[in-house]
Amino acid sequence: MDRKKVVVCGGGVLGTQIGLICAYYGFDTTFWLRSESSIGRTTPKIERYSALMLEDLGAAKALVGNPMAAFLYPRGLIRSWDGMTAGKIDELIESGKKNFAENVHIELDLRKALSGAYLVIESMTEEPKAKIGMYEAMRDILDEDTILCTNSSTMLPSTFAEYTGRPEKYCALHFANTIWKNNTAEIMGHPGTDPAIYNEVVKFAGEIGMVPLQLHKEQPGYILNSMLVPFLSAAQMLWAKGVSDPETVDLTWQLATGAPAGPFKILDIVGLETAYNINQMKPAAHQEGTIENQIGKLLKEKIDRGETGVNAGKGFYDYTKK
Ligand SMILES: NC(=O)c1ccc[n+]([C@@H]2O[C@H](COP(=O)([O-])OP(=O)(O)OC[C@H]3O[C@@H](n4cnc5c(N)ncnc54)[C@H](O)[C@@H]3O)[C@@H](O)[C@H]2O)c1
Repeated sequence: MDRKKVVVCGGGVLGTQIGLICAYYGFDTTFWLRSESSIGRTTPKIERYSALMLEDLGAAKALVGNPMAAFLYPRGLIRSWDGMTAGKIDELIESGKKNFAENVHIELDLRKALSGAYLVIESMTEEPKAKIGMYEAMRDILDEDTILCTNSSTMLPSTFAEYTGRPEKYCALHFANTIWKNNTAEIMGHPGTDPAIYNEVVKFAGEIGMVPLQLHKEQPGYILNSMLVPFLSAAQMLWAKGVSDPETVDLTWQLATGAPAGPFKILDIVGLETAYNINQMKPAAHQEGTIENQIGKLLKEKIDRGETGVNAGKGFYDYTKK
């Protein structure tokens, strides 16, 4: 089996980024896409994200000599800053270009795509039916040794393990958006995951420039969202109750903890649509008179005004002001 072949199922926002980081680090990477029209949607993403990665790598030259460089962006593209020079970054840019050109493949035929795969990462729409359909389609054609991972943000691997036909070789490998900067990889098995496979996935995550963050048991929301979602909800509660305003809440958090950003700045980065979708998942959000209902209404008003966060130029803060 070719140790180096990785297959990404799904060419959306995250799937594209995952495939590109694998290709950047020398893995032979195949995107399996379901139709010609998917190719039309994924190809511009591949072009855009690969250009952004190389651009950020170029900008990293300004960090050479900065003792904090290793903690600054783009963490996922530069594994070690020991002895780093602008010339070495130029070499990384050249090898990145070459690796993107040589290692990225698109395949519509599932059997061909999966053949000889060392590891398959499912990064499809966050819908159980779509994911189950995918696992059922691949279970009988995957090579015996292939490891299968899901990038699902909200669902647990135990929900799908039985459909994969290889529960012992299946676990979650969860990335963050803008993978080349926010290089976290949360690795979460289900009770039937073979520990040797789990460890292999941890090793793989490190090989593609991620910092492997190991969970010892299943947890909805993994580590990060288990902390972040309640934190952001508490901040929104203070705002919706009229206890304080977003600027003061952020200032309090930053001054008291030394954190570089407060919860409302984080909400602007995450995007208010995502915050609204999370709010709407709570039953109380649909009951008149609850604080969750009030938060939902306030978020909806901002979304309707187009104030959806950093990407829109305005959210809780105005990013168009110089
Ligand atoms: N967007 C994020 O910030 C983020 C972060 C971490 C993890 N994730 C997870 O990554 C996964 C993908 O998210 P995304 O943001 O890339 O979504 P997306 O909507 O950008 O892309 C979804 C992809 O799945 C494909 N797809 C949908 N149904 C399919 C089917 N039946 N068969 C084959 N392909 C199908 C779509 O064509 C598209 O390429 C989800 O599980 C999500 O929870 C997303």
